[in-house]
Amino acid sequence: MGIAVRCENLTKIYDTSEQKVVALNSVNLKINLGELMMLVGPSGCGKTTLISVIAGILDQNSGLCELFGENLLTMKSKDKLQFRATQIGFVFQAFNLLPSLNAAENVSVPLIINGVKRDTAKQQAIEVLERVGLGERWKSYPNQLSGGQQQRVAIARALVHSPRLIVCDEPTSALDHTSGQNVMNLLKEVAVHKDRALVIVTHDARIFEFADRIAEMDDGHIVNMR
Ligand SMILES: Nc1ncnc2c1ncn2[C@@H]1O[C@H](COP(=O)(O)OP(=O)(O)OP(=O)(O)O)[C@@H](O)[C@H]1O
Ligand SMILES: [Mg+2]
Repeated sequence: MGIAVRCENLTKIYDTSEQKVVALNSVNLKINLGELMMLVGPSGCGKTTLISVIAGILDQNSGLCELFGENLLTMKSKDKLQFRATQIGFVFQAFNLLPSLNAAENVSVPLIINGVKRDTAKQQAIEVLERVGLGERWKSYPNQLSGGQQQRVAIARALVHSPRLIVCDEPTSALDHTSGQNVMNLLKEVAVHKDRALVIVTHDARIFEFADRIAEMDDGHIVNMR
């Protein structure tokens, strides 16, 4: 079995004018290809920071992070952008939809970045929106959608380009039980593939059953793996 993500002694310090916060304190973690790993732990323990470093959104201060054998930290910025655009889908804790784009246009963004023509991208976006139960709402703008609907648009956007790594920050926080189970079934179906991996940060015990392993974080460390 190959390795999708390898973190060794990963450290991240936020250094603001007021104070230094050690958000990751020597994290060691391996995620296998084909694996769905959940990441749990108290608020502020470093979960969002860890997945942001894994996805190349933030740079660590020290330690190694490899994604499919590649070290994003040492990649040229152009190659890194390209790598992220093709290989990674990210569902942000705050959704981060673009307010001036409708649902289908938001979901199209990763395809357009990857050179897919606008009409084709829209068709594919609508298909993924159908799979998250929002096919009828593809023309709606984020401010016309409920929190749970916006969250499902964000999930569709993370899946549409079939990335090898899907990273989700609390993907079911705004969803009722049924929508949460539907989204998890979809994520599992799309992501759990022999050369892909899925990392999900969650507090939602209703979805723990979908995990292959659960990593517990506290105070910038992985403290337990089950
Ligand atoms: N941009 C930043 N500048 C300074 N400190 C930050 C920044 N982002 C996060 N932190 C701090 O780093 C620590 C880890 O934050 P992080 O967002 O990774 O936690 P989390 O586990 O995702 O929490 P939550 O469950 O509330 O989302 C916290 O103490 C937080 O205050
Ligand atoms: Mg967080």
